[in-house]
Amino acid sequence: MTAKKNKTSFFCTSCGYQSAKWLGKCPGCNEWDCMQEALPDTSSADGYETPQMIAAITELGKTAQPVPLNAINESEQPRQSTKISEFDRVLGGGVVSGSVVLVGGDPGIGKSTLLLQVLDQLSTPQQTTLYVSGEESPGQIKMRSRRMGINNEHLYFLAASGIEEIIKHFRKLKPKALVIDSIQTCHSPEIKSPPGSTSQIRQTAAHLVKIAKLTDTPIFIIGHVTKDGAIAGPKLLEHMVDTVLYFESDTQYPFRILRAVKNRFGSTNEIGVFEMTGSGLVGVDSPSSIFLSERPQNLAGSLVSATIEGSRPILTEIQALVSTAVSGGIPRRTTLGIDRNRATLMIAIIEKRLRLNFSNKDIFLNIVGGLKVVEPAIDLALIAAILSSHLDQVIPTTTLVIGEVGLTGEVRRVNMLEQRLSEALKFGFKKIIVPQGNLSSETTNKSSLKEISTLQELASKLFS
Ligand code: TYD
Ligand code: MG
Repeated sequence: MTAKKNKTSFFCTSCGYQSAKWLGKCPGCNEWDCMQEALPDTSSADGYETPQMIAAITELGKTAQPVPLNAINESEQPRQSTKISEFDRVLGGGVVSGSVVLVGGDPGIGKSTLLLQVLDQLSTPQQTTLYVSGEESPGQIKMRSRRMGINNEHLYFLAASGIEEIIKHFRKLKPKALVIDSIQTCHSPEIKSPPGSTSQIRQTAAHLVKIAKLTDTPIFIIGHVTKDGAIAGPKLLEHMVDTVLYFESDTQYPFRILRAVKNRFGSTNEIGVFEMTGSGLVGVDSPSSIFLSERPQNLAGSLVSATIEGSRPILTEIQALVSTAVSGGIPRRTTLGIDRNRATLMIAIIEKRLRLNFSNKDIFLNIVGGLKVVEPAIDLALIAAILSSHLDQVIPTTTLVIGEVGLTGEVRRVNMLEQRLSEALKFGFKKIIVPQGNLSSETTNKSSLKEISTLQELASKLFS
């Protein structure tokens, strides 16, 4: 096995797949152009498993013993509220002890800010916590915390990046929660490759996971995202941790959306909505109100739909711009917050079913506010926005459109329609276009609802 290992000289920067020769496409994750030459690994058998390291980590807690399933007490995995309700929601109802949570996002989006706020809430006289940063000095953190009004004597700060040093201080302080900012700066001197490389990330993350499980301490790991939107060494890390949260945002807006993409302790659909203010991140209780707050009045190409994020309905504005393309060029299809393939499909459906021609038109689609919507329940609204911009006809501001659209132009039912409707009615929408046969017997306010089953019906009901 050792001989084989020595031969390996290329690895995938995305999933860690190892190969003796360079490959254009990684067989592990099918990514292109991600194989990198590995530095010769001169560390001991399994790299991080040196006897000192094993001793240091196992001393932290008892090693696990087999237990009959019926003897396990569920309350041994209690959840602790961070009192930041948007964060608790994404975690599935609070922090689970011994869990490892990866928080990813673009630089400057608010990862350090959020986790400092979380630790502040978790720090009490009975419970010290530790924030380890390899990126900022104590002075910088102090400045940040002053700005955010945080001055907690039970929240400790450590400027360090060596995993051995971190473990040493962890053993001394015995914090009840730990933040590592960031995994890319964290390194183990036993490994020869530089901090941020796949082998460093794998090994330091493996240590942190062990510590969390052995000591029942929740650990939050901050991970930077590469240009194409993935956490560096992403799949590796995602497999190792319990929960993966990503920050999304549109840089024009102060809103930050935290989305769970993996969660061993809760749903992965939930999102938390925050606003970046002068004193840190503030949870937004009613996301619909912020997404609709800057809505233009009486302009063609804009309308509102109701989407479901996890268990909560959110109203979002959808904008379309259909303009004449440069003659002879390929018409552009640009989307923000919407899957481009889905948008292209909707454009093809309009062309075929409503006999319109967009071959000489550029089409831009946008979900305002930085939300990313993947569910097909906004199909009908996308089509309505495109029609409105193309025909230059205004959709009344109190009209809302919900529905999925199939390839033959049929309007299909959506799930959780009642929740969507109640949110729409709460925000004063007077005409709500919904799929035929989607209403239940309990639906009230039927007079506001217009049921349709085809795109022709949409076109006739939209602008009046
Ligand atoms: P930060 O948490 O450092 O981002 P990350 O750790 O994801 O790189 O956030 C930095 C940005 O947030 C920075 O542009 C300044 C802004 N900010 C505020 O607007 N208000 C605040 O109270 C704080 C602490 C930061
Ligand atoms: Mg940071």
